Amino acid sequence: MLGKSKINNIKLLNNKKNFRLDKFIELALYASNGYYLSKKPIGRKFDFITSPEISQMFGEIIGVYLLYNWKEKINSKFNLIELGPGNGTLFKDIERTAKILPNFFENANVNLIEINKELRKIQEKNLNYFGKSKIRWSKTLNFRSKLPSIIYSNEFFDCFPVRQFLNNNNQWFERYVKFNEKESKYYSINKRVISKKILDYLNKYKKQKIYEVSYPRNKYFERICKYLKKNRGICILIDYGYNEKIKNFTLQAIYNHKKTSIFDNLGQQDISSHVNFKELIEIAKQNKLKINEFISQRDFLIKYGILERKKKLLNKNSNLKKNLINDEVDRLINSDRMGRLFKCLVVSNL
Ligand SMILES: C[S@@+](CC[C@H](N)C(=O)[O-])C[C@H]1O[C@@H](n2cnc3c(N)ncnc32)[C@H](O)[C@@H]1O
Repeated sequence: MLGKSKINNIKLLNNKKNFRLDKFIELALYASNGYYLSKKPIGRKFDFITSPEISQMFGEIIGVYLLYNWKEKINSKFNLIELGPGNGTLFKDIERTAKILPNFFENANVNLIEINKELRKIQEKNLNYFGKSKIRWSKTLNFRSKLPSIIYSNEFFDCFPVRQFLNNNNQWFERYVKFNEKESKYYSINKRVISKKILDYLNKYKKQKIYEVSYPRNKYFERICKYLKKNRGICILIDYGYNEKIKNFTLQAIYNHKKTSIFDNLGQQDISSHVNFKELIEIAKQNKLKINEFISQRDFLIKYGILERKKKLLNKNSNLKKNLINDEVDRLINSDRMGRLFKCLVVSNL
């Protein structure tokens, strides 16, 4: 569904009376003039900054985790798949870490899944340590290989469009978007849900006031789980999200490091939502995968050695650099910064 919308220009939405919120988000992000197809979003100078861009230590810890899992549980030819590599920074840090185990990349068929042409160009430029010929790029996941796989992502699943439902005295309403021609502005309206299929689904959540769901996100993850179930492998997914009831909708827009309305800067700003990990865990369990880890980014990074790595780097660097290193790690693991909101889910059948 993503990237293949029939309406491929966001402005065309203005001709419609109203449309579902997820369709609006999908076009704002994935139409030909949408955010993910037309802009370079990541980095200190752009709209937002991600963990791999904050510190090399993030990618190093993920790298060690991947190397360990490959060595202990696969140790043969495999697919190494990154979803949404951005600037390629995480991959670069993993590549550097893998120097301690050269077999790892010798056995890897690398596949990077990237929808943004500009970012793909940046990745091609950045990733040449083991020779570009070994890396294959695709816009979507295609599961043809029967080899075991290591699939990983950082801030990928938050990109998927969501639908929002509100429960008012046991009547469900869904958020739609409307365009006001006179004011040339978008705004949201609530429409009563009448589809029996959706009402049956929402019945599970009747004790909640609101419910936010991304069907394409769940479907994407389900495809991964089914593939792992059939061909063996592990999936490591890091993103901001939750696994309990939410009090407020989590949809947000970011423009130039600042929170904005989702209706502003159409096609020019990031729109994302927190990942509902409870649903992803449920999907993994339905596919008989093990939940190897479901912990906060803080706990994951500490468990796999970020503090020891920090110590080593501090010993090697000047005082000025030391302050920076301390702040980078704090940003990643402090519960009031990224430490608690970001979670790490690892599922596998290895
Ligand atoms: C928020 S950025 C995260 C980038 C990188 N993982 C990082 O941590 O810096 C999301 C990445 O996923 C890519 N992306 C978003 N939706 C995608 C989709 N449906 N298919 C493939 N790539 C997608 C974006 O272009 C971008 O590279």
